[in-house]
Amino acid sequence: MAKFFGNLWAVVGVGTILALGLLFGHMGGLGNAKGWMTFLHVLVGIMWIGHLYYFNFTQIPTMPKIPAELKPAVSKYIAPEALFWFRWGAAFTVLTGLLVAWLSNYLVEALTLQDGVRSIGIGMWLALIMAFNVWFIIWPNQKKALGIVEADADTKAKAATTAMMFSRTNTLLSIPMLLCMVMHNLGGAF
Ligand code: HEM
Repeated sequence: MAKFFGNLWAVVGVGTILALGLLFGHMGGLGNAKGWMTFLHVLVGIMWIGHLYYFNFTQIPTMPKIPAELKPAVSKYIAPEALFWFRWGAAFTVLTGLLVAWLSNYLVEALTLQDGVRSIGIGMWLALIMAFNVWFIIWPNQKKALGIVEADADTKAKAATTAMMFSRTNTLLSIPMLLCMVMHNLGGAF
């Protein structure tokens, strides 16, 4: 048992098989494209926002309390790995989210904030701004701050502050963004 649970990909594989069993056994299989695409969307969305909250609620507040000689464990090993799942989670959330909107026949209407799909459109724009921040501000600055690319001490410190501020901005935006995502189907569409 410990061997099975020690293997992340075996665990993820079994979870996937159970989900596929339910999907094909009881939920119409691949016929309900909007359904399973939304499922994939929420799954990768959790990967993204889960890591955003890990950075903001756990890593950033704890770093100052870690003794200097132990900090490299976070900056050299944990943070680069977390940033991998974080930024690719963001990319796939955007892709699947846009596909869900397209399958719902309101992609352009939502992005232009038209009546009835304005709420989901606002959520989509907030998430698009967040994804832009991830790929074009947080990740390039984190690469400098963590020493993945060469930078002097001053540039590193500035890059760390910029990454932190935009990461906090995304935490702020994630709250109304998620409200728009969830409420669109639950009586909150406007
Ligand atoms: C640019 C990025 C995103 C786009 C384009 C997008 C788009 C969409 C669309 C079109 C829907 C379907 C609404 C409907 O039922 O008609 C949706 C639902 C949803 N999205 Fe997103 N989204 C994005 C980011 C996120 C993120 C970061 C999360 C965080 C986990 C998220 C979580 C959800 C949830 C929970 C639902 C509701 C599923 C349901 O109850 O049917 N989305 N999104």
